[in-house]
Amino acid sequence: MKVILRVDATPSASALLLRPWHADDVDPLIGAYRDATLRHWTGLAVESTADAEEWLELQRRGWESGERLGFAVYEDRSGDEGELAGNVVLKRTGSPASAEVGYWTAAHARGRGVAPRALEALTHWAFDAFAVEGLKRLDLLHQIDNLASCRVAEKTGYLFHQVLPAQPPFPRDGHLHIRRAGGPA
Ligand SMILES: CC(C)(COP(=O)(O)OP(=O)(O)OC[C@H]1O[C@@H](n2cnc3c(N)ncnc32)[C@H](O)[C@@H]1OP(=O)(O)O)[C@@H](O)C(=O)NCCC(=O)NCCS
Repeated sequence: MKVILRVDATPSASALLLRPWHADDVDPLIGAYRDATLRHWTGLAVESTADAEEWLELQRRGWESGERLGFAVYEDRSGDEGELAGNVVLKRTGSPASAEVGYWTAAHARGRGVAPRALEALTHWAFDAFAVEGLKRLDLLHQIDNLASCRVAEKTGYLFHQVLPAQPPFPRDGHLHIRRAGGPA
């Protein structure tokens, strides 16, 4: 499945282009992971070419199996790829009626609505693409003290549903937010 999603520019932020991660993303991925905040909240370190290739292979296999559909989010400069701005992912491992979303934004691009805009595009695409398989609900989980992530959920219409108890690898309680196809949670 080769999917490309586009998000319009805003007065203060450039347009975005979302496309599946591929092998050429090694250097931008390593660059993004130089940020300690990203390493902290994703619980992952991507430091070497080997680390990046391993992560990108995970994305490739995810698309192959259909269980992990990860998109690199690039700034869209008149149709050309600008800088890597982030990542959004749809995880489809359980019942076809539900799936989970995830995201991060590269440090240089934060505070400009990249994650909510990319997540909105992913959400629309997911409900549309997987309606035939019965997708009705998308879950968004974040650790309770990740306030920036909670804001992304709120701004994207993922309504707070419940507090989840701490569970490895997350040492603290979390929030579950839900967005349902065609309506509030
Ligand atoms: C959470 C995250 C994805 C938000 O992405 P973003 O593209 O900056 O999203 P937004 O621009 O909508 O900002 C969201 C919140 O981040 C905070 N923020 C604003 N500017 C910021 C900046 N320059 N740097 C860091 N955080 C900032 C604000 O609280 C903002 O909420 P507000 O709109 O109410 O002011 C990003 O901070 C990130 O990648 N964090 C590390 C990885 C992570 O936590 N992923 C989610 C795991 S559940």
